[in-house]
Amino acid sequence: VRHPQDQHESIHMRPQIRDAVERLGNHKILEVVRLGAADPNIIPLWYGESDLPTPGFICKAAIDGIGAGETFYPPKRGLPSLRSAIAEHLQYLYGKPIGNDRVTVTSGAINAIMLTAQVIINPEDNVVVVTPAWPNPSAAVSVLGGVVRSVDLDIVDDKYQLDTEKLFAATDSRTRAIFVNSPNNPTGWTIGREQQRQILEFCKRRGLWLLADEVYTRLVQHSQAAPSFLEIAEPDDPLIVVGSFSKSYAMTGWRLGWLIAPAKVGAILDNLVDYNVSGVPLFVQRAGLSALLNGEEFVETMKAYCKHGLEIVSGKLEKLRRVQLVSSDCTFYAYFRVEGQQDTLAFAKRCASEFGVGLAPGVAFGPASEGWLRLCCGRSPLMLAEAMMRLERAILG
Ligand SMILES: Cc1ncc(COP(=O)(O)O)c(C=O)c1O
Repeated sequence: VRHPQDQHESIHMRPQIRDAVERLGNHKILEVVRLGAADPNIIPLWYGESDLPTPGFICKAAIDGIGAGETFYPPKRGLPSLRSAIAEHLQYLYGKPIGNDRVTVTSGAINAIMLTAQVIINPEDNVVVVTPAWPNPSAAVSVLGGVVRSVDLDIVDDKYQLDTEKLFAATDSRTRAIFVNSPNNPTGWTIGREQQRQILEFCKRRGLWLLADEVYTRLVQHSQAAPSFLEIAEPDDPLIVVGSFSKSYAMTGWRLGWLIAPAKVGAILDNLVDYNVSGVPLFVQRAGLSALLNGEEFVETMKAYCKHGLEIVSGKLEKLRRVQLVSSDCTFYAYFRVEGQQDTLAFAKRCASEFGVGLAPGVAFGPASEGWLRLCCGRSPLMLAEAMMRLERAILG
């Protein structure tokens, strides 16, 4: 029997959604995906995801893990063997030892960023983000009630550049962190050593965290890995570096990444991992271990695949007179603009629904990216060639 007061409450009292979450707004790439995803002929270049499948030896390690009964709760911050393999891998890449106690295994880099935000942000604190940037780090800050301050890269001589004076001027007494994603999604911009030093020094002097997202570090053309903040930092510096298996090992769906932080944050992370996901499934961690121990050749394959993809894409875009393509060392994305197409959300929607090619609109990466488009180059050469023909028609038409 319903009490009259219950009826009254069901009309007038609604459980509240937090303001910070309600304000998040639509995911702009999803708006385009929703239009095209059901079309079997669409060529989806909108997400940062290769079409290469995860290599068999990585899958087998996970299957073996399940076969061996690894279906119980995992250690919160990851299998000791995987944590030490990550530390050794980073030492192999950057020549600097990383203590295992600094490594936390996470459910992808996205979870690493959300955990970091949970560690450092009070409501109304701000984080200064170098933009354009993929949307998730800013969203993590916003979800926790923090404020995002964007500092845009500049284009100088057809290349993206960071003005560190501008970056530092954007900080104030409520700033908790500077966020730098390099190699950058979407622009491909890669930070150099000198600017890394300046930013790290600034953060140390001002008591700020430096949050570095380095998930594309292997997908650069001219070196084994892009410059990492890990190469110049001391173990206790206020640096948190986020990495991932997703892009270099074709493991986007496994949700596996890592976070390198000062060892003193370890106990806090242990708690937070527990409260968020209680750790990454053991058999997924086995797959990651196999990727690190046996996957170097595959990383080279992925690099070559993306480089070839970028050549196909840029070969076409550079010939189109109305297109401006910014050059970069990173091979995973092409980032470009089309003269006369300022509203790229509308243009991307038209490309998806009328021309069968799926692009990410610049506005997904911050307001200053309006007018730009991003395309993922880690896809099959045939697909990319066909996509470029379709895109040419969309641009010329
Ligand atoms: C810069 C950057 N960091 C992190 C991620 C997400 O990585 P993960 O799949 O490990 O969560 C992406 C995905 O697009 C990305 O572009």
